[in-house]
Amino acid sequence: MSEPNSFDRFARQWLPLLEAEMRSQLAHPDAVVAQHYQMMHYHMGWVDESFRPGAFGTGKRIRPLLCLLACAAVGGDPALALPAASAVEILHNFSLIHDDIEDGDETRRHRPTVWKVWGVPQAINAGDGMFALAFAALLSSRGWGVAEGALVAALTRFAACCAALTEGQHLDLRFEQEESVSVADYLRMIEGKTASLVAASLSIGALLGGASRECDNALYRFGLHIGLAFQIRDDILGIWGDPAVTGKAAGNDILRRKKSLPLLYALEEPTVSQQLMRRLGEPLAESDLPGLLNLLAAANAQAFAEDAVRTHHQQGLTALQEALGAAALCSPLGVLADDLLLRQA
Ligand code: IPE
Ligand code: IPE
Ligand code: MG
Ligand code: MG
Repeated sequence: MSEPNSFDRFARQWLPLLEAEMRSQLAHPDAVVAQHYQMMHYHMGWVDESFRPGAFGTGKRIRPLLCLLACAAVGGDPALALPAASAVEILHNFSLIHDDIEDGDETRRHRPTVWKVWGVPQAINAGDGMFALAFAALLSSRGWGVAEGALVAALTRFAACCAALTEGQHLDLRFEQEESVSVADYLRMIEGKTASLVAASLSIGALLGGASRECDNALYRFGLHIGLAFQIRDDILGIWGDPAVTGKAAGNDILRRKKSLPLLYALEEPTVSQQLMRRLGEPLAESDLPGLLNLLAAANAQAFAEDAVRTHHQQGLTALQEALGAAALCSPLGVLADDLLLRQA
């Protein structure tokens, strides 16, 4: 067996503590409303559809790990950042419950989505509950000896990223109906829906760990770039990923006319753009997918998107180096950024 790397060691140490912290933040206050919280527990991967405990798909827990790693990297004690790390993951999970409704997706993490099991109204409500509890989790850092000024700065980042996330989702949904979306529009959209929370997760950990303003800003930029790379990779997996590995359906993004980067690029590629535009203008069914995928292949859209992932990853590493010096490239933060480059799920 190969030696675990610095990131694996960190994750092994902190993930169980994070999980315990999130369970305590999402505990139900009394039996009457237990089901409301159990829907959240289902989404978190802690219970099945009948609320029986077990180990199900929990997700990768990337954002809380980034938060804890940033705190440690600036010299703080990651234990102080556990409530904050739990807050960013709870917020992420709120956004996924709502996103699956917005995207009409029936499968996530290899299981039926919350709306698919309990209906849209209860899923909206479970998501809303998690949104509120995410703020409560971050505020609970107070009891852990976190400096008041650092907590206010962290809350400010958190609230701004919540607003940015909904802006990004707004654009994502609006672009489904728009024919011409530029790469700049696309980048604004994915910065809002995905990169802002990745960046805020790092920044919040750094702020609670006592980072200087310069270091916090550079870590935030690192987060923005790896967040952009992460979403572009998600776009690729949403088209060409293996559902048995990703736990999500492939092809839905195209059928919903999502302006993912590969589709956007193909729409601008002269050899296929007319044909693609015509097909997208007609009603779409699953049987149209092979033809649409052929057009994306003819445009070389996957290679273009993979190149964009590498570019943002590289720009992220430059910012990481500015924040923490060249040694940071081999630190757990650098290792995690590298792993995200090649992720299959
Ligand atoms: C999925 O995020 C949504 C995006 C922002 C791309 P993740 O890929 O981090 O989802 P989980 O938490 O690991 O399932
Ligand atoms: C990710 O949305 C952004 C948020 C959930 C806020 P996507 O719709 O691109 O992500 P997946 O592919 O459903 O996980
Ligand atoms: Mg989605
Ligand atoms: Mg979406």
